[in-house]
Amino acid sequence: LRDSFTQIAQKQNERTDNCVRPQASAFKVAILGAAGGIGQPLALLIKMSPLVSTLHLYDIANVKGVAADLSHCNTPAQVLDFTGNAELANSLKGVDVVVIPAGVPRKPGMTRDDLFNINANIVKNLVQAVADNCPEAFIHIISNPVNSTVPIAAEVLKQKGVYDPKKLFGVTTLDVVRANTFVAQKKSLKLIDVDVPVIGGHAGITILPLLSKAKPSVSFTDEEVEELTVRIQNAGTEVVEAKAGAGSATLSMAYAAARFVESSLRALDGDADVYECSFVQSDLTELPFFASRVKLGKKGVEALLSSDLQGLTEYEAKALEALKPELKESIEKGVAFAQKEP
Ligand code: NAI
Repeated sequence: LRDSFTQIAQKQNERTDNCVRPQASAFKVAILGAAGGIGQPLALLIKMSPLVSTLHLYDIANVKGVAADLSHCNTPAQVLDFTGNAELANSLKGVDVVVIPAGVPRKPGMTRDDLFNINANIVKNLVQAVADNCPEAFIHIISNPVNSTVPIAAEVLKQKGVYDPKKLFGVTTLDVVRANTFVAQKKSLKLIDVDVPVIGGHAGITILPLLSKAKPSVSFTDEEVEELTVRIQNAGTEVVEAKAGAGSATLSMAYAAARFVESSLRALDGDADVYECSFVQSDLTELPFFASRVKLGKKGVEALLSSDLQGLTEYEAKALEALKPELKESIEKGVAFAQKEP
């Protein structure tokens, strides 16, 4: 995976070098939960994207000021604010990509699954509105527990008759960002060059970095593999504990989510070479949803990269089998919730 902002910048430079006028791309992006810890820095990063013409910020409160503040940045994207349920439908009209970081974050001692009761309902209600107002949009789910909220979103979309599995994504980019950073630090590599696929899901042991598939190819001792894997799996908790009650990862998450939005927009814009890891409907394993590298295109997921699952090390193969029961349970919990309370 190449850094998408760098690629955009390079593209713009090439166009300028060739005296070709940069094309004005005109994608609309909506953030639901835009006044929150993730929502605000994510809105700032998306406001910087040359591919965005309009940025819709929706939240149940405090979003007017965020939009007023952002709108003073002299980048082209127009920023519009929408507050409360009465304005939710309008925030979604004509939107190409919807990003959902709405909900409560973890406090020390909590697992992502502890957030289920509150966030499941929030995601359900928001995705119902997405189904009614922009059923063709790419949907990026950030709200935890992702392993359950994505299956909930899928069920809601099915109930509304508009489910397109190629356009529903659980955002796991932060796991890749963390894996890349920690591997680069450990092996003294240039950060921009490092790419580690992370598969499985987005909670504890369901997060499985495939260090044997890291690019550039590097060798790790067994101890390094264990240490890096556990650190990547617990990196969210590292931040929750350091923030000591003030929330979970917001800035690194916003960075990761902005990268995933940028990749989606590049795919929508016709770029033929866009790959990201994401938690999506999948047939790579016996589980109905699974995070893997995916190729993105104009219509969403174009292909799942099955090659990452071939030739795993013994450590990775064991970890893959070990994560399946927990991931299965989280998926089934989400499906059961959405089917029980349509
Ligand atoms: P936050 O509490 O700072 O912000 C959440 C925002 O959602 C608030 O502005 C709140 O008003 C809004 N909100 C609540 N109910 C809403 C509704 N029905 N409609 C629209 N907006 C609503 O939380 P933060 O730190 O931004 O985290 C958000 C979520 O992202 C949490 O569930 C957290 O666990 C998750 N997260 C996911 C990560 C991932 O890798 N996928 C990483 C880090 C956090």
